[in-house]
Amino acid sequence: MFKVVFKGKHIGEIALEREASILSAAAKGEVDLTHRCGGHARCGTCVITVEDGAAHLTPMGTAEARILKVLKANPDQRLGCQAWAQGDVTCRID
Ligand code: FES
Repeated sequence: MFKVVFKGKHIGEIALEREASILSAAAKGEVDLTHRCGGHARCGTCVITVEDGAAHLTPMGTAEARILKVLKANPDQRLGCQAWAQGDVTCRID
């Protein structure tokens, strides 16, 4: 059992028993994380800033890296729909 904590614009704490995307964890906890493309790494609206537990997220894939480059995202930012939590993670929604 581990948890995903959301801070910032929308807050919440979701306990998970198995790995899940940050987006699905948000949905489970009724935390509002915008996802206009439906989680297909196309819109970039689900960007989160990882405050703690980056090592507990799945590695970044090509599609995610491409969108984050277009957005000029910071190194600590990920797409909530592409980053899967495998352990405790704290992230911020701006
Ligand atoms: S929901 Fe569109 S990129 Fe994540």
